[in-house]
Amino acid sequence: MKGVILAGGSGTRLRPLTEVTNKNLLPVYDRPMLFYPIGLMVDAGITELLVVTGPERTGDLLRALGDGRRFGLERLYFSVQEKPSGIAHAISMAESFAAGDQVFVILGDNLVFGSDVAGAVQRFHRQTFGAKVFLKAVPDPERFGVAEVRGASVLSIEEKPRDPKSNLAVTGLYLYDHTVFDKIRHLRPSARGELEVTDLNRAYLREGTLHYDVLGGDWIDAGTFESLYAASEMARRYATESVVAAEAAA
Ligand code: DAU
Repeated sequence: MKGVILAGGSGTRLRPLTEVTNKNLLPVYDRPMLFYPIGLMVDAGITELLVVTGPERTGDLLRALGDGRRFGLERLYFSVQEKPSGIAHAISMAESFAAGDQVFVILGDNLVFGSDVAGAVQRFHRQTFGAKVFLKAVPDPERFGVAEVRGASVLSIEEKPRDPKSNLAVTGLYLYDHTVFDKIRHLRPSARGELEVTDLNRAYLREGTLHYDVLGGDWIDAGTFESLYAASEMARRYATESVVAAEAAA
C-alpha cells in the first residue's frame, strides 16, 4: 500500500498565516502540522509516500521533510498540483506513483490522536477491493462531508449539507483500491468547479464497495483559526499523557 498526503489548496481561510508558508507547515504544538499525518502513515506501515502540494512555497515543504528518512520513510516523493482543482483531482496525481497498489490518503490538515488507524489500515490491506472512509461524530457536521449509516452499510454521503442526515463527519482519511483512478476519470466538476472527494466516495457507494470505520480518540480538521488553536491544545494533551504513561511504565 502507498501513502498520499494532500498539502495543496490555497489556504485562504488561514490568511495571513498562509502568506508566510504552506498551511500544512503551520505549527501544531511542537511541530509542523504535516508531521502528524506523516507519523500516522508510518505507524500504519507505509514506507513510500507522495505529498501533493500547490506550486507556492514548495521550497519550505522540501526543507521541512527532506528525504523522509527522519520519519522512517524509505521514499518520499512530491507532486505539484498547479491549481486547487479539488481533492479527487489531487488524488489523481498519484496514479503512476501508486502503480496498481491500494492507496491510503490523508488530507494534510487532518489530525488524529489516540485512534487505532493502523489496525484499520492493515485490515483493509488484506481486502482486495473497495474503499473505506473513517467517520467521527461531531457537533457541527454541516462543516464536513456527512455520512448516513445503517449497521455496517453507508446509505448516503453528502458534502457540507445544510440539513445533515447524521452527526457523522467523513474525516479526511481514505483507503482506496486500484480502481480509484479510473473512478476519478469519470467524475465531473462540482458547482464550485472542483473534482470532489465526496463524489468519488459516492462512486464506491453506488458500486456497493464503500466501507466505514468510526474513529476512536480525537480527530480535528485544523483548517480554521479556531480549529488550528484547538489542534495545538489537543496535541499538547496527548504528548503530555504519553510522557506520563512512559514514566509510569519505566
Ligand atoms: O476535513 C475533512 C473534510 O475535508 C471532509 O469532511 C470533506 O468531505 C472534504 O471535502 C474536505 O473538506 P474541506 O473543506 O476541509 O477541504 P479543503 O478544501 O479545506 O481541503 C482539504 C485539504 O486538501 C487541504 O489541506 C489541502 C488539500 N487540497 C484541497 C484541494 C481543494 C489539495 O491538496 N488540493 C485541492 O485541490
